[in-house]
Amino acid sequence: MTYETKTFAVPELIDISKTSVDQHIELYQGYVKNFNAISAAIEGLLEDPEKNALAISELRRRHSFEFDGMKLHELYFPQFEGGASAMNTESELAKAITTHWGSADAAEKRLKQTAMMRGPGWSILYFNPETKAFHMSFVGEQHQGHFATLPIVVALDVWEHAFLLDHGASGKAKYVEAFFKNLNWSAVEKRFSDIQQNIS
Ligand SMILES: [Fe+2]
Repeated sequence: MTYETKTFAVPELIDISKTSVDQHIELYQGYVKNFNAISAAIEGLLEDPEKNALAISELRRRHSFEFDGMKLHELYFPQFEGGASAMNTESELAKAITTHWGSADAAEKRLKQTAMMRGPGWSILYFNPETKAFHMSFVGEQHQGHFATLPIVVALDVWEHAFLLDHGASGKAKYVEAFFKNLNWSAVEKRFSDIQQNIS
């Protein structure tokens, strides 16, 4: 199947420029395009799998990089849609985080700490519906270090392309602060509610 690019209604952001967002969305579109291209290339090469074994092998290894790049950005941009809003301390999300980590702002603190790890990737908050536990990972690039099967609650892109234009190569900390200034926690709470409904 062929995947289509999605559009995002990202409002004007604090400390993240429209130019940066526009360029970032173009990069996202590249993941969709490349996932489709690799999918088609593998199918073509499979017409002679023995002759093309090496090429197929290399494309298979890169396939989830493109897919995860596509899907993570489709989680990233909607977190800004609707504009910034604080976490509702009475929300199911806040209650679950408090139960798990002792305070409603614990997830934000941990996401920031994870975001400052070195290397291109993502700081990601997952929820395990089976155990009702939160987990966090630094996902290298787009695809290394995911918690398989766990739904994603917050996806914070910390590739340099997310902050280089506005804050320079050493500006990750400023960008991470900006991400949370602009984060629409009510959208995240809705996502968490959808995760809960999907498992009930
Ligand atoms: Fe990105």
